[in-house]
Parts: sequence; structure tokens; C-alpha cells
Amino acid sequence: MLKRKDLLGLYGVSAGEITEILDAAEQMKRAVNSGKKSFDILKGKTLVTLFYENSTRTRTSFELAGKYLGATEVNISAASSSVQKGETLIDTGKTLQALKADFIAIRHPMGGAPHLLAKTVGCSVLNGGDGMNEHPTQALLDMLTIRETFGTFKGLKIAILGDIKHSRVAKSNLFGLTTMGAQVWVYAPGTLIPKGFEELGAHIASSREECIEGAHGVMGLRIQLERQSGGLFPSLSEYSRYYGVNDALLKYAAKDAIVLHPGPVNRGIELTPQVIDGLKSRIEDQVTSGLSVRMAVLKLLSEYREVNCL
Ligand code: CP
Repeated sequence: MLKRKDLLGLYGVSAGEITEILDAAEQMKRAVNSGKKSFDILKGKTLVTLFYENSTRTRTSFELAGKYLGATEVNISAASSSVQKGETLIDTGKTLQALKADFIAIRHPMGGAPHLLAKTVGCSVLNGGDGMNEHPTQALLDMLTIRETFGTFKGLKIAILGDIKHSRVAKSNLFGLTTMGAQVWVYAPGTLIPKGFEELGAHIASSREECIEGAHGVMGLRIQLERQSGGLFPSLSEYSRYYGVNDALLKYAAKDAIVLHPGPVNRGIELTPQVIDGLKSRIEDQVTSGLSVRMAVLKLLSEYREVNCL
């Protein structure tokens, strides 16, 4: 059983808890792949998805996860809610609690917003991405995809290339993968590597080749144009030429390497279309893993709530 009311990040989450989530997700995936889309696990419970930023994968998979598990599921997008009238996050959270929500999956542009919400409400809060901080269920779905391929994390090298600085995905993957015994290597223009990343356990490569050499997983990250104040690299075409991943570079990776990307992809910028659609690509599998990971996290948090009479 998870030892927490909320899933806010992978920082400080133990190897045992990560294994428990991935094992539960594997079971969910088997059931869903065999055609089962109706469970009683969250019967009588309510899941609210509260998204202050756009999303396709995360929001849809949280919504489907809640529905498949039997919960009542409601979606609130900031654009059409009372947030537009100036309501604060805390007041919105208290309103959802008064409406008897059990789970709130939130995406917010400010790092720490889910943590504030979790302190304020008794509902279980699931972080669907907070600013540049963390995106724990994304990293867990990446980890499930990696574990399905290699059966373990120990001894694996995972190369992450792209906008590390603005990436909540990179941080959650760094925390989760290193906890499980993998090595994480990153490569990007110096302006897109956050200060202190090495101290958190990452290896900073000095070339694309060094980053990808012998890697079992090669993950491209989206250039987040919406979070950049500008001037961090000269142009997108130069970025793709000097920092993007193509088939020639993948020859440096391990023979059985897989290619990952959290999506949405800027085709031809962080990865070439040949890499995105190539045989090593697991980008669509990642999306499927996302559904089962979110089902697993909801199930395990629900068990925590039951045991602790929440
Ligand atoms: N990977 C991810 O978070 O995708 P969305 O923005 O579509 O949810």
C-alpha cells in the first residue's frame, strides 16, 4: 500500500512504492488489453480533473482511468470555470471538497500548486504536471514502458535530450529512475540544463554521442516554446541540427534501445519523423502505459484512503 494521501512527485518516493505502482499498472494493463474496461474499484467515489493548462494525454487518461475504475468523473478546465472570475486555487479546492470529491487530478502552470491544494483539502491530489517542477505519472508511465522492455532498471542507461530546464518530465524521471538503480544522462544546450541537475544525480553529457552511447532508453523532450523567455538557443533549425535525435545517432545506442517521448512531439525538431515512427519508437506504448499507471495510482490511493478512514 502507498504510504501517502497524494501523489505530488517522485522526489522521496521509495523504490518499494514505485515497484508497487508499476506492478499494479502492469495488472491493469493486462486487464484492459484483454478488453476489460469496467471495474468496481472506485465505485461510489468521485474524481475531478482540474486542468489550468492544455493537455491531451494526461487529462484524457485520468478521465478514462476514473471511468474504467467505476468512479463518477467530472472535468473542470480553468478557461470555463470560476477561476476566470478570480477564484483562488484554495477556494476552488474547498468548493470541490464541499461537493464531496475524493480525488483531484490537477495540472497547473505554477510549481507547487498541487502541494498547496493537498495541504488544504482532504481529497487525494494527483499531480498531472506543475510548472517546471514534476510530472510523476508521466515518469511512472515512462518507467513502466522501460520495465516492460528490459524487465529491470538496474544497470540501464537512460539518455534524455531536449529542454531539460523547463521539463517537469525530466525531473520526475531523474528521481524515479535513479531511485530504481538506472543512470540518467542528459544533453542540451547549456542554457537548457538547470543549475544543480548534476547534484540531483544526473550525468551531464558533453555531446549527443556521449549521451546516447550504449543507452537503453533515448528520450526526446519537447522544446517548450511557451515557457521560454527567448534567446536560449539561436533557432529551431539549428537546435534540431545540433541537438535533435536522428537514425544516425541512434546507432550509438544499445542494440535493443527504445525511443521515448512524453508528447506532444514537435516533429522534426527534437526527433526526426523517421525516429518517431521507427521500429525503436515506443511513443504510442507510452500513452497506453499512461492509462494503466493512472488507474494503478488511483486504486492504490483509494486503498490508502480506506485504511486511514479518509
Ligand atoms: N505528456 C503530457 O503531459 O502530454 P499532455 O500535455 O498531452 O497531457
